[in-house]
Amino acid sequence: MLGPVLLAAARSDSIRRAVSAAPVTRPVVDRFIAGERLDQAMAAVRSLTARGLEVTLDHLGEDVTDRTEALRARDAYLALAGALREAGLGARVEMSVKLSAFGQALPGGDDLAYANVLPVVEAAAEVGTTVTLDMEDHTTADSTLAVLARLRERFPATGAVLQSCLHRTEDDCRELAGEGSRVRLVKGAYREPAAVARQDKHEVDRAYVRCLRILMAGKGYPMVASHDPRMVAVAQELARRAGRKPDEYEFQMLYGIRTAEQERLAAAGHRMRVYVPYGTDWYGYFMRRLAERPANLAFFLRSLATR
Ligand code: FDA
Repeated sequence: MLGPVLLAAARSDSIRRAVSAAPVTRPVVDRFIAGERLDQAMAAVRSLTARGLEVTLDHLGEDVTDRTEALRARDAYLALAGALREAGLGARVEMSVKLSAFGQALPGGDDLAYANVLPVVEAAAEVGTTVTLDMEDHTTADSTLAVLARLRERFPATGAVLQSCLHRTEDDCRELAGEGSRVRLVKGAYREPAAVARQDKHEVDRAYVRCLRILMAGKGYPMVASHDPRMVAVAQELARRAGRKPDEYEFQMLYGIRTAEQERLAAAGHRMRVYVPYGTDWYGYFMRRLAERPANLAFFLRSLATR
């Protein structure tokens, strides 16, 4: 019941201001966010890669309301590409971007987001890595997949995220299961209406497995992004049946969630990538993590109560 309330709060500016200003928020936020600055993110990257994990970095930001902010998002990623080049980490660290941070919702949004994200994809290629386009709520899906298709004309390894909660996603998986395609499969973190999305968690899980079947049987590169032990086990079995070698798919989990399992999978010879968010605009991301798990909210509320 609390999940939808928290997801609605994730979009509220007044709640954003109150939560962001509360001093107790910080320790809870730190569990999920590597830091507000690039050097803190790079320190997290070094620590994770030293433990055999791969990384995808997300400079936090979404829903920009003007072109200047969109250019700032682009520049933050260009600075990140520069830091990866300097650290010689391009082969192990990719980048995740939200097109709403690049101007997708502004007038002429598809073209604007494409124009702003293209230099980032070019910079990533120069340092030997790739970019994956995060998927936001369902209203952005067509636009995001259209920008993806344009980017893939020059950079075919640009990745997509597909959400098993949406009714459309099995078709999208078929569409994107071809040679060279990289698809990160998630369950979906946004509050979506019944007209477009499954509302029952078990239905979402079952759809996740059906999508995994399509991706594993296809010719692309599946990125299994879930902390759910059942999904991890099913993915391993489907990969085995499809004859995929360990470097022909990967697991992905979020920074700060099931870290022991992340290390266990990497130690067992799997490619395990950690999604590492950093930056000052952490509110929306943080609220989605609270919404996913009541225990996170309880932890947050306890920290308020014990002050
Ligand atoms: P599920 O929610 O069933 O959780 C399984 C278990 O994992 C839980 O029982 C718990 O142990 C643990 N767990 C899950 N979430 C937790 C949390 N917040 N805190 C603590 N423990 C938790 N979504 C989206 O809509 N667009 C996107 O672009 C992305 N990108 C993305 C990248 C990566 C690498 C990951 C791992 C996830 C995303 N997501 C996403 C989020 C995704 O849609 C989903 O909301 C979460 O991954 C939670 O779903 P699970 O598959 O983990 O299963």
